[in-house]
Amino acid sequence: MAANTTPRAVCFPMLKGGFGKSTFASTLGGILGDFRDHSVLVVDLDPAGHLSTGLGYYTRENDSATDLADVLLEGEPLEAIVKNPGHGFDFIPALNLDTISDELSKDSVLASDLKMKQELVDKHLGEQYDYMLFDVPGTRKKLTNNAVIAAPNAILPLMPKPEAMNGLRETAIRLVEPIRQQLGEFNILATVPNDLSARIDHQTTDRKLLESMNTQESFASFLLAGNDGVDPQQGTLSNGHDLETVLNDHIPPFARIRSDEWAAIDAGEVSPPKPPIRHTGAIGDAYEERKPLTAHDPENPQLEHFGVVADIIETGGINQ
Ligand SMILES: Nc1ncnc2c1ncn2[C@@H]1O[C@H](COP(=O)(O)OP(=O)(O)O)[C@@H](O)[C@H]1O
Ligand SMILES: [Mg+2]
Repeated sequence: MAANTTPRAVCFPMLKGGFGKSTFASTLGGILGDFRDHSVLVVDLDPAGHLSTGLGYYTRENDSATDLADVLLEGEPLEAIVKNPGHGFDFIPALNLDTISDELSKDSVLASDLKMKQELVDKHLGEQYDYMLFDVPGTRKKLTNNAVIAAPNAILPLMPKPEAMNGLRETAIRLVEPIRQQLGEFNILATVPNDLSARIDHQTTDRKLLESMNTQESFASFLLAGNDGVDPQQGTLSNGHDLETVLNDHIPPFARIRSDEWAAIDAGEVSPPKPPIRHTGAIGDAYEERKPLTAHDPENPQLEHFGVVADIIETGGINQ
């Protein structure tokens, strides 16, 4: 284990496809493992297997291969399913994940949701691994429950699409709130805008996303879902919660634009900033090359910003 590291398990649990979950999992795996020399395990829990494909692994069903279900339920050793793509982190590809939910469901409900925590995290985090990163599907499945219980530290990427806020609202109501109410601690380490490309001094979807994130009480209510005095259905916080503090605690400094800054932008007093994380063709190229961005294009300017997200993972929250 590298010095000064608190072992931490992280997940990317947006209940919506196409916001950058898998991209974040591989890029942050590369930063923490390759650039910073931590011992890192990345796990693909999406039956669609996009992350696995992007790292060069076939995800075709194969009943005879040892798979995650064998490790979680049959006591097979973790080593039997761990691969090394050669980019600074170990990797468990998506394999036979369509059947694992049924197999897990044979156990009692509670026990079946705890398997990932007991067999992967409790046994190996802090021993072999400093960090475990779980990529999850964009729908709520048994595996998603397992992932958020095993890895109660979330990074939520958001893309400038019309459905962004609704996707976050769904995630808050259907996942974050019940997890916090039934199990207690669940940290959202950061929400991170991704794939930005448009001006924010005009009414673009980029502007809409960043303005919603940086000003709306409803956005804050989604992040705090499950806490006392928070109603994500209504999109409200009680007086006990200060909006600005909630936003400061959940939005990385590179994407935090306060009300007075919006006013200055709209008055034309400052040139409009171009907040990260930007759209970058190198992310698609890295996928085609079956490598994380850190290996495909180590000098890519966006990696600095992924580095800030990695800092947030290392320290367990945002300091600003
Ligand atoms: N910053 C970015 N710039 C360019 N393309 C991106 C960026 N982030 C993600 N993408 C692309 O957007 C698509 C969706 O990203 P992905 O990580 O697969 O999302 P998810 O796992 O949430 O479904 C992928 O094709 C990915 O390569
Ligand atoms: Mg994905």
